[in-house]
Amino acid sequence: MPGGFGGAPAIGRRRFMVMSTAAVGLPVPVSGSAPRSLRGLAPAESSTTSTIGLTVNGEQRSAVVDNRTSLLDLLREHLGLPGTKKGCDQGACGACTVLVDGRRVNSCLTFAVMHDGARVTTIEGLAHGGRLHPLQQAFIDHDGLQCGYCTPGQIVSGVACIAEGHTASREEIREWMSGNLCRCGAYTNIVTAIEQTAKEA
Ligand code: FES
Ligand code: FES
Repeated sequence: MPGGFGGAPAIGRRRFMVMSTAAVGLPVPVSGSAPRSLRGLAPAESSTTSTIGLTVNGEQRSAVVDNRTSLLDLLREHLGLPGTKKGCDQGACGACTVLVDGRRVNSCLTFAVMHDGARVTTIEGLAHGGRLHPLQQAFIDHDGLQCGYCTPGQIVSGVACIAEGHTASREEIREWMSGNLCRCGAYTNIVTAIEQTAKEA
């Protein structure tokens, strides 16, 4: 049957796929099923959603999410908590910082399903009883922001920085806050806010 390129004999689509796959060293699918090494990665052959439950800012929450949903998108799009910001969405800016079981995490870089049962704290969970967290107040008092876009991530990260005890000097604070970028360059006042809060803690 005609149909090959440049007069070459035609090959079937499946044979072409097998030859191409073998050429790059990947396992060749047999009888239409995914190879063992790729099972779980092929959307057509695996479950694509999960039900997860987390404690977010002290409240029990649950959601059904696509397995590829980031923790950031879970918080913002599914749980109605837009305080955590999406900056780069690739782990470079720190705008999406939240606490997971007390540790700082770039929520854009981690899948929500990996945190089933975890305790998550976002910027919305820092104030209590109508009172701002001392570090939130310090950011206001020391002008630790300009446009404010990086601020939720800075404050959440700063809370952890203080809890971790990395506040012995301004240099140490800078080092341990280096994952949080501020395009407005408010770094001097951010460090002052953290330094003051740590002293008063
Ligand atoms: Fe996550 Fe930038 S949005 S690190
Ligand atoms: Fe504008 Fe930090 S205050 S990016």
